[in-house]
Amino acid sequence: MKILVIGAGGREHALVWKLRESQHMEEIYGAPGNAGIAQEAECRPVEVSNPAAVLELAQSLGADLTVIGPEAPLVAGVVDEFEKAGRWIVGPTKLAARLEGSKIFAKEFMRRHRIPTARFAVAERFDQAIRALDDFREPVVIKADGLAAGKGVVVARRREEAEAALDAFMRQKTLGAAGERVVIEECLKGEELSFMVLTDGRAVVPLAPAQDHKSLLDNDQGPNTGGMGAFSDEAMLPERLRSEILRVIVTPTLAGMAAEGVPYRGFLYCGLMLTAEGPKVLEYNVRLGDPEAQAILMRLRSDLVDLLLALRQGQLGAVDAHWTPNPAVCVVLAAKGYPGAPETGQVISGYEEAEARAGVKVFHAGTRVVNHQLVTAGGRVLGVTAIAEDLAAAIERAYAAVRKIHFDGMHYRTDIGAKGLRRLPLEPRPPNRLRVPNPRITGSLGVT
Ligand code: AMP
Ligand code: GLY
Repeated sequence: MKILVIGAGGREHALVWKLRESQHMEEIYGAPGNAGIAQEAECRPVEVSNPAAVLELAQSLGADLTVIGPEAPLVAGVVDEFEKAGRWIVGPTKLAARLEGSKIFAKEFMRRHRIPTARFAVAERFDQAIRALDDFREPVVIKADGLAAGKGVVVARRREEAEAALDAFMRQKTLGAAGERVVIEECLKGEELSFMVLTDGRAVVPLAPAQDHKSLLDNDQGPNTGGMGAFSDEAMLPERLRSEILRVIVTPTLAGMAAEGVPYRGFLYCGLMLTAEGPKVLEYNVRLGDPEAQAILMRLRSDLVDLLLALRQGQLGAVDAHWTPNPAVCVVLAAKGYPGAPETGQVISGYEEAEARAGVKVFHAGTRVVNHQLVTAGGRVLGVTAIAEDLAAAIERAYAAVRKIHFDGMHYRTDIGAKGLRRLPLEPRPPNRLRVPNPRITGSLGVT
């Protein structure tokens, strides 16, 4: 099988790395890729958000299977273009991708289908937004409606911060059209959980749980980023919580999309807050998380192409994903200036030594090769990922590898996974009263 992976980040490197070991793989391509992907696949340039261009590339390569990493091509309608041409691709259609492409769509969808989420208001004009703030206590969360590469959410601790965010998004238009309309919502408290599934719209294969670390600095301080690290550990998802999430969030989401005539297929990411009242949706993503994918794909034992084939053939209900019980940790090494304008062109050293260590894989994000040297080429540069028999050992392995790597301005958090070491048992809660039709939930987390 000829496989094409679209994207240029750490998640796409992890996808290429995993797909490459499939028994079905004959040739593998990355587009546009990065320096790490280029070591494992043939890279081709492509304008990822131009559906016709992506299809043309897949046709010219004779790709049997195309997997999309990032959201922008999905929101732009790449899947629709492939489906029209009868070429196999994994991901939701343009209409289904609105779950991520429009926060207003997502929030109103959740309201229609009674899916637990933060209380919210929608504003289309600045004065309306300012008035809406009166209905919320600080801290309050301001979200730009459209895609903003992790820059569209502000958790405002004071009214002035909320007003400044609204002014930036709606009057100064710092995010362009993406910030013209906003969601204002209550701030939820609890532990975050990234819960991802592979689905054909009915059957679901849950993926291993993960937790992202969004803030730039240790102890969740500093601005939000695309993600400074992630870990995946079965202990973060007791069976009862897993079935509750499937019942009150995943199932009604898929049933709701189907009922609205937009069946959802592909990877679905539910960004959750585990609140005292139960899990609530912070956001949907229509793809795998980055850097969550790096951690969970290290734990996946199954052949990923087998799972995707089952999805294509409507057989997802008959397969299981198998995971190693060993936890995995991904520490992101970021460039100076990230999440603002990152400094680029710094020479990276020590990555080969880091990767030579047992249980370690260095996934590339913003890297390229210039004059035979690996240099930084983006905000998130590398995702140093380690797996070990327990979480403490995985953390130690990841950081021991990180310490081998150097580039000027390199920044990383030193507490990735630390919350997992002091995890407390979850408080018992009253049962949720929501009743929804049950699609088949299979592919249980067959931990082997
Ligand atoms: P989002 O892109 O919507 O996931 O927002 C990015 C991050 O902002 C989340 O991962 C949370 O850390 C935080 N966040 C978003 N919405 C809320 C909320 N309602 N309450 C608390 N934190 C939030
Ligand atoms: N790590 C969160 C995301 O991929 O959006």
